[in-house]
Amino acid sequence: QEQQLSNGVRRRRRRVVLFSLPFQGHLNPTLKLAALLHAGGLAVTVLHTDFNAPDPARHHPELTFVPIHETPLPDAAVSPDSDILAKLLALNAACAAPFRDALASLLLCSGGHDDVACAVVDGQCYAAMRAAGELGVPVLALRTDSAAALRNMLAIPRLRDAGYCLLPIKVANVDAEEKLDEPVPGLEPLRVRDLIRVDGCDAGELCSFVASVAGAVGAWVSGVVLNTFEAIEEPELAALRRELSLPAFAVGPLHMLFRRAPAPAEQGPHAPDRSCLAWLDARPPRSVLYVSLGSLACVGRGVFEEMAWGLAGSGVPFLWVVRPGFVTGAGASDGEEAPPPLPDGFEEEIKDRGKIVKWAPQREVLAHEAIGAFWTHCGWNSTLESVCEGVPMLVQPCFADQMVTARYVTHEWGVGMEVGEVVERGRVAEAVKKAMAGGDGAQMRERARHLKMQSSDATSPAMDGLVQYIMSL
Ligand code: UDX
Repeated sequence: QEQQLSNGVRRRRRRVVLFSLPFQGHLNPTLKLAALLHAGGLAVTVLHTDFNAPDPARHHPELTFVPIHETPLPDAAVSPDSDILAKLLALNAACAAPFRDALASLLLCSGGHDDVACAVVDGQCYAAMRAAGELGVPVLALRTDSAAALRNMLAIPRLRDAGYCLLPIKVANVDAEEKLDEPVPGLEPLRVRDLIRVDGCDAGELCSFVASVAGAVGAWVSGVVLNTFEAIEEPELAALRRELSLPAFAVGPLHMLFRRAPAPAEQGPHAPDRSCLAWLDARPPRSVLYVSLGSLACVGRGVFEEMAWGLAGSGVPFLWVVRPGFVTGAGASDGEEAPPPLPDGFEEEIKDRGKIVKWAPQREVLAHEAIGAFWTHCGWNSTLESVCEGVPMLVQPCFADQMVTARYVTHEWGVGMEVGEVVERGRVAEAVKKAMAGGDGAQMRERARHLKMQSSDATSPAMDGLVQYIMSL
């Protein structure tokens, strides 16, 4: 592919190679970034796994898609029952050699290193960062979480040495219990209870994963790209730049950069059920609670039933995403494609006041005037989407960076409130009513409206800076 410069000279376009781990919350921002880099004048190749492969026909036609053919994935990488750390470790192992081979053959075919300006690689995939670096390709790490979450993650070995509890609260010892509300030095406003943690994982394994990521960033990475924006994370971004001694490009919210151009199709585990939009059309403004815990988080049958009866007891109309696989253990779905059965008598109780879908067109739902609040797990994409639509949140973080984001949503930005650590129907009903109607709800909505305005100002200059930096590599 050639590019015409302003002086009429034609020259070969510089190419960027992107690679994302195959999670929905990582692939979608990566594909958006790919389309934006292409719009910025770069040729783009997306390397991808066979698992959850993007469908080239549904994406930007100018992007080139190349499968790396990862080694067969063990159950740990794909099973809804395995924790996020097990998935990350298994995916890194499965992608290491195939990614390296795919990038090496791309370098051979495309005219070598002169043509490939850099690789923009998933910031959780240390194997790919290392492979690209070893092949002599400049590497940028793409983080699909917040700057605060990245700072927390990189601090994990230090926190562990200082005796902080990295394990689930329920297995923490009594001493640690007493410290849960203490602020964590250097990571304020996070308290001990807000630190990244993964239920069921081993603290040693978590530290070794973080060490691998930090090692790859330290050895091979020339810059970090984040799907965030200065107005919500200015101090965190400044601290990150200082701590890493690297440029950090806050190019988000990525989905907001497509207001004038078609965005790449969203990659989802199920087809979005658009019937919920017509259902919302029939509801008054700000009357409906939207409930979704993202694409990965699962709950046990007990929590699922408390959520259901809490929603029923609140009296508030709701749209609830109940994905196949959302409930694990006893009382899960029959078969991979079926959602878990609803509690006995639940549908009769809620009648038309609740709408339940396997997967929603979330961005359109959040933009719908009938939505009054969003009960979310605080996945970073969901949080940004809610912020950008000025929708206040009810937070139920489940694992990893969601703990960190929930703290920012509730205490730093003041646009959300907690469901509570123990999900119990009576408390759920109260929290839902408060978020939708109470004085707290109105204040959150006002602050959310303010953040929405800030988010729409934060766009192209950071992306221009990133394109220029890539050209300079
Ligand atoms: C994961 C982690 O959970 C998250 O913490 C991390 O920051 C990114 O990777 P996920 O659980 O998928 O992400 O949550 P989130 O980041 O919120 O992404 C979910 C995406 O799915 C959002 O873009 C949302 O719009 C979309 N979605 C979700 C739908 O389109 N329809 C749905 O019904 C539910």
